[in-house]
Amino acid sequence: MNLCVLGAQWGDEGKGKIVDLLTPSFQLVARYQGGHNAGHTVFVRGKKFVLHLIPSGILHEGVTCLIGNGVVVDPHALFAEVDELKALGISITGRLLVSDKAHLILPYHRELDVLSEARRGDRKIGTTSRGIGPAYEDKIGRRGIRVGDLADKSDNGPLVNAVRENVATRNRLMGNNDMKWESVVADLRVMWPRLQPLVADVSLYIDTAMKAGKRVMFEGAQGTLLDIDHGTYPFVTSSNGTAGGACTGLGIGPRSVHAVLGVVKAYTTRVGEGPLPTELVDTVGERLRESGNEYGASTGRPRRCGWYDAVVTRYAARVNGLDALALTKLDVLDGFEEIKICTAYRCGNETLTEMPGDLAQLAACVPVYETMPGWDAPTAGVTRYENLPAAARAYIRRLEEVSGVPAAIVSTGSDREHTIIRNDSVASNWLK
Ligand code: IMP
Repeated sequence: MNLCVLGAQWGDEGKGKIVDLLTPSFQLVARYQGGHNAGHTVFVRGKKFVLHLIPSGILHEGVTCLIGNGVVVDPHALFAEVDELKALGISITGRLLVSDKAHLILPYHRELDVLSEARRGDRKIGTTSRGIGPAYEDKIGRRGIRVGDLADKSDNGPLVNAVRENVATRNRLMGNNDMKWESVVADLRVMWPRLQPLVADVSLYIDTAMKAGKRVMFEGAQGTLLDIDHGTYPFVTSSNGTAGGACTGLGIGPRSVHAVLGVVKAYTTRVGEGPLPTELVDTVGERLRESGNEYGASTGRPRRCGWYDAVVTRYAARVNGLDALALTKLDVLDGFEEIKICTAYRCGNETLTEMPGDLAQLAACVPVYETMPGWDAPTAGVTRYENLPAAARAYIRRLEEVSGVPAAIVSTGSDREHTIIRNDSVASNWLK
């Protein structure tokens, strides 16, 4: 029984906590796309961990974590994270593998990310400036450098030639000659002995493990609406965070993904630019931001906040084939007198119940809301569904109805323990 866990909104849904929670039932956790633009915050016994590149499963001893070919790897960011984990007493030795086919993020990618954003002016994407887009551009442009390429030690071989050409392109685009290909190569040569022991054929590793009866969790980063194909293009990241990305980003067949869990917040947030139909630019939005501590885990940027959008979840259910939802941060809604759920969009004279593909149309959409009563008693820290206030249960029931997907897991706080796993749900199969 293998499970794919992914974001069903615009990222930051709380995937880190959910992956961390479910990990004890899996032997492998494999990340399939994105890079260190992601920020997965996990609290264990009150201790905060922020993981960017390494799957959240690393916090559990005995679990092997894999970084697939679909991920873009900045070796400096990877080792900074490894060192941070080590300082917290977590060793990655023998437990972390990186695909030889994963593409590298190199210093020129970071610069080109910043340049590209500056050139777009007020049409900027609001990227994390980590070099993600330019690294994927090189991959698709067939000039990228892959982890396995670093094994080439020759002075005039494919690695050196590729770096030389890419740095020349960087210098042309930046309008200066500040970057020397020699220093990029020298840095990679220094890095390689540390990276080499982690390099593996991740596809083969997973296949062998599955044949030996091991269970794999596939971990997505960002969210469905930030997917390069299915998101609010061009205000998206440059990879496929949707379920199909697990297959291409790890080298596994679709039949190996047995179930898909979509993580959603009990409300909606987004960082960066682009349409957000339920955005609240008022005191309610501010209250959600402050109560939910809605500041980016990677960049610290304030997140834009709004009510739960069921059009988004229905869309995410379709493009990912969601079996269930993990509903996070329910406790952030504690104390609200009333809570709204967006069930459709009003666009001109039309009512849309499905997500429009056209960005201008989406930007012009106004949410159609249903209003539910809030609850007085806190949900924070509640671990049994029946102990939730009746109004909170009614809110969850309605979310399930309008989203068309059952909520198998409900999170009521940042700690692992602050979670409801519903007995009667599909989640009980995953935890066997
Ligand atoms: P990039 O991935 O840095 O190119 O950024 C593209 C868009 O995706 C921007 O709007 C970012 O804010 C957003 N983004 C990237 N990673 C994350 C994430 O982990 N959570 C939320 N938004 C993200």
